[in-house]
Amino acid sequence: MKLRKLGLTGLWLSLTCSMPAWSQAVDPNLGRNLAANCANCHGTNGVSVGGMPALAGQSRDSLARAMKEFREGKRPATIMHQLSKGYSDEQIDLIAAYLSAQKAR
Ligand code: HEC
Repeated sequence: MKLRKLGLTGLWLSLTCSMPAWSQAVDPNLGRNLAANCANCHGTNGVSVGGMPALAGQSRDSLARAMKEFREGKRPATIMHQLSKGYSDEQIDLIAAYLSAQKAR
């Protein structure tokens, strides 16, 4: 009983102590990698090949706002309301930062 308690404390300690290290080690390519999920529909790096809104070069704020509005059902959508639900605020901000830095062609 006592041992089991200790084991759990150890697990808790190792989880909580490793969190700061984990959050500092954010992959610098995370935004690009997350934005790759958008390429099928919106084109590579958000450069649309037509028929789909281009995301490349849109402002960071408007991209992030659109994603959050889709997620909250405030903006009409056929598919984006479902897709946007898979992303946290932090992930949306990373995606928006990456796509807004891409050149619209
Ligand atoms: C399955 C196809 C598909 C994928 C994948 C997809 N989108 Fe979309 N996106 C759409 C469609 C279709 C619209 C138009 C709104 C709607 O009908 O949902 C849209 C609209 C948008 C808009 C609004 C653009 C504007 O100018 O009005 C943004 C922003 C957006 N998508 C961001 C993203 C991001 C970021 C990702 C990747 C995380 C993504 N989309 C992935 C299909 C897709």
